[in-house]
Amino acid sequence: MKFGYLALFLLLLHLELSAIEPVTAAANYSEDYYEDTCPDVVDIINQKVDAWIEKDFTLAASLIRLQFHDCAVRGCDRSILLNSTASERTTSVSSTVRGYQVIDEIKAAVEESCPRTVSCADILLGAAREASLFIKGPFWPVPFGRKDGIVSIDTEAERVPHGHENVTTLINFFKSKRLDMQDLITLSGAHTIGGASCGTFINRVNNFNGIGKPDPSLDATYMNMLKKRCSRSTDLVNLDVTTPRTFDTVYYKNLQTKKGLLTTDQELYMDPRTAPLVNTMVSSQPGTFEELFSDAMVKLGNIRVLTGNEGEVRVNCNLVNS
Ligand code: HEM
Ligand SMILES: *[C@@H]1O[C@H](CO)[C@@H](O)[C@H](O)[C@H]1NC(C)=O
Ligand SMILES: *[C@@H]1O[C@H](CO)[C@@H](O)[C@H](O)[C@H]1NC(C)=O
Ligand SMILES: *[C@@H]1O[C@H](CO)[C@@H](O)[C@H](O)[C@H]1NC(C)=O
Repeated sequence: MKFGYLALFLLLLHLELSAIEPVTAAANYSEDYYEDTCPDVVDIINQKVDAWIEKDFTLAASLIRLQFHDCAVRGCDRSILLNSTASERTTSVSSTVRGYQVIDEIKAAVEESCPRTVSCADILLGAAREASLFIKGPFWPVPFGRKDGIVSIDTEAERVPHGHENVTTLINFFKSKRLDMQDLITLSGAHTIGGASCGTFINRVNNFNGIGKPDPSLDATYMNMLKKRCSRSTDLVNLDVTTPRTFDTVYYKNLQTKKGLLTTDQELYMDPRTAPLVNTMVSSQPGTFEELFSDAMVKLGNIRVLTGNEGEVRVNCNLVNS
């Protein structure tokens, strides 16, 4: 009897899970989508990404971050436009803009080989994957066939967490994208590389949340280092203070010793809902983080994908086709 209930429960769970899988026709969304129309697209993306990161290692982080910022707004549809108003954007997105130049150059090369065929969204996701591979991070499969969106709304982009939200807000934001608490922990692990500008965390050093003193969950020695490093709000500090150029689990270890850079990083270890998951990341078998990260990037890459006749293949990644 009990077993019957369990079986029913599992069946319902299965139905529930299949119901939330993105319903996209395989023919219009697959790893070999460009096999006939643009067979060299992955080679072009990889070669360009490698060349850029070779010149400037910090671009690897910027490119991986772009996948979050594209997919977490609407869906992975290259919704963020950079048009004449781009120059008015604040410094906090300047590193993002830098990453977009790589996408633009890849797009130009791809347009030469196969005009009006490959979407900017697909290029962006392929570039993020190669950025990870190039710095010895994990591989993940990238199905292609996404179309670019024709809608971009600034205020939606503003809803992506900035680094001072509480854990509840983070969990809810991820949930709204069908990403769970484990995905939140796993994907935050991208902060094992790259940097943040002082303006995004300096309140922790000075007057934390208006309490008139520094964030008590910040290691004192680390805090003094941050004070010295931050003379301007645009100065960049490594997100992983210990191994900033290595894709590893040291980001999580830093949280255990109060050396998370952003409020939203450190909180993951201070909150009883997420702390056990942080500990598991540190103590699990080598390779576990990388495997979870691959899976989570696939999930992130599948958010609200436009395929077939939805959207368009943008000619200029920064503008909707006229
Ligand atoms: C959990 C919510 C998240 C918050 C609040 C957050 C916040 C931030 C902030 C404030 C910065 C620094 C930006 C600046 O200096 O202006 C940053 C950088 C970065 N983020 Fe996140 N992030 C989150 C999730 C993610 C995810 C899901 C990924 C990728 C999978 C990611 C990858 C990165 C990377 C690689 C950088 C460094 C970028 C660079 O060096 O150019 N972040 N993040
Ligand atoms: C740029 O974007 C704004 C809104 O973000 C829009 O109102 C404007 O028409 C766009 N300009 C161009 C040239 O596309
Ligand atoms: C988290 O932040 C949201 C938005 O600012 C706020 O409404 C909520 O009360 C906060 N939750 C907790 C537990 O602090
Ligand atoms: C694939 O996209 C084309 C338009 O590009 C559409 O006509 C076709 O119905 C789509 N196929 C499937 C299986 O959805």
